[in-house]
Amino acid sequence: MASQEEGLKKLIAHSKEYGFVFPSSEIYDGLGAVYDYGQNGVELKNNLKRFWWDSMVLLNENVVGIDSAIFMHPTTWKASGHVDAFNDPLIDNKDSKKRYRADVLIEELLAKYDDKIDKEVEKAAKRFGESFDEKMYRETNPRVLDNQAKRDEIYARFVKALHDNDLGELRQIIVDNEIACPISGTRNWTDVRQFNLMFSTEMGSTSEGAMKIYLRPETAQGIFVNYLNVQKTGRMKIPFGIAQIGKAFRNEIVARQFIFRMREFEQMEMQFFVRPGDEMKWYEHWKEVRLKWHKALGLGDEKYRFHDHEKLAHYANAATDIEYEMPFGFKEVEGIHSRTDFDLASHEKFSGKNIKYFDPELKKSYVPYVVETSIGLDRTFLSIMAGAYCEEELENGDSRVVLKFNPALAPIKAAILPLVRKDGLPEKAREIMDDLKFDFKCVYDEKDSIGKRYRRQDAVGTPFCITVDQQTLEDNMVTIRYRDSMKQDRVAIKDLQKIIDDQVNIKNLLKKLA
Ligand code: GAP
Repeated sequence: MASQEEGLKKLIAHSKEYGFVFPSSEIYDGLGAVYDYGQNGVELKNNLKRFWWDSMVLLNENVVGIDSAIFMHPTTWKASGHVDAFNDPLIDNKDSKKRYRADVLIEELLAKYDDKIDKEVEKAAKRFGESFDEKMYRETNPRVLDNQAKRDEIYARFVKALHDNDLGELRQIIVDNEIACPISGTRNWTDVRQFNLMFSTEMGSTSEGAMKIYLRPETAQGIFVNYLNVQKTGRMKIPFGIAQIGKAFRNEIVARQFIFRMREFEQMEMQFFVRPGDEMKWYEHWKEVRLKWHKALGLGDEKYRFHDHEKLAHYANAATDIEYEMPFGFKEVEGIHSRTDFDLASHEKFSGKNIKYFDPELKKSYVPYVVETSIGLDRTFLSIMAGAYCEEELENGDSRVVLKFNPALAPIKAAILPLVRKDGLPEKAREIMDDLKFDFKCVYDEKDSIGKRYRRQDAVGTPFCITVDQQTLEDNMVTIRYRDSMKQDRVAIKDLQKIIDDQVNIKNLLKKLA
């Protein structure tokens, strides 16, 4: 089995080699934590967006979409709390001059204790075989208990420090636990300071008149400031939701793990406006709906879990993450937050405009509460690449890399392959392509042996290869090869559209949510 690091490296190399993800401005050696999506990446990303969008605005009568601008009036970010509170606690190592997130250093230490404990348990499980009682071992083994006690103590201090916003205590935890800089190996640390994550730029043509504006760090605020526009023009009644897909920007300090933590990324967010007091009911509802969506991607139900937040963001009264088991452990892909009336009430205060909703059933006005679902498109993309990537040894001694995407998400649905480049086969293959291209993203490929061409399509996850041979010219039948089973069938050209559509239609995914 590949180590976590090797697994991620392979995925990064494969993503680049097959046109999924490239480092941004690579000819200039790239730009930290910024990536471009290639010809196959963008198709996969678009399919994912479509699945999310349709699951929100088609399957829910009371959810509609918008597309708001990235630039917003700067007061938006004052009202939302981002100017004052969208910070990471940073610490520098004085010798290496490297900057770290203090909370991440401590989380990594906690993960080391978890690892130690798990390894101890694994070793014992091997030693004792069938008769091993893991629960009993965890509760009684002195080494496990010792490590667990140390971990619990650090964890309790950490959670309290985060709650109290106590930067001195965060530093003290790092010092007390002798956490060293991975570069210099020393423990020569500065104080912990807060660092705002928003990028800013200037708008306006004269230096005196220029206004400092921010690149939005979340798409949600574009929804909040438009909620009454949508409610009135769409005659929406509470409860209702507004969905949006768009770019967000954060000046992340710890930017690594490929497209997991980027400085420019894409979010798919939905704000659901509810009556005050109903928010917990809807919070539970959306938790369930969103987990189901992730599971429908087909990467394995056991790959997902909820993780409730230890420290709630400045706007939330309940929050959980949906985590996916990435090549580097369980990581957040989506946040579900009960945001109370924090944002709307704050926008009302800062703008001086009345943005209350008049509830015709209750016959009174109020500021709605909000439950939000906020999923990272790039992280979901990464989860799909990681979950779909398979290396297989074949019976004939060959091996292949295959991306086992759900067919509805696959960037290319069918490859049309004339067996040889003569005898009218290319022309026949083109005819088939010209017919299918109105419904599906197809590719035509006549170069190299048929085996090599199959391998190329496996590597980008194409569910169907359609081979045109001499016999096709006589009977209008082709060979269809299925990506996962590699089974081949002889089928009529006239049936191709239906065979492919049955597998790749996004409806297949949407129906799993019903
Ligand atoms: N509106 C709420 C909000 O933005 P968040 O938990 O900060 O909440 C939501 O972000 C999702 O956006 C995360 O679950 C993650 O998938 C994605 N995300 C956040 N920061 C990211 C980054 N730097 N790179 C890639 N995705 C990111």
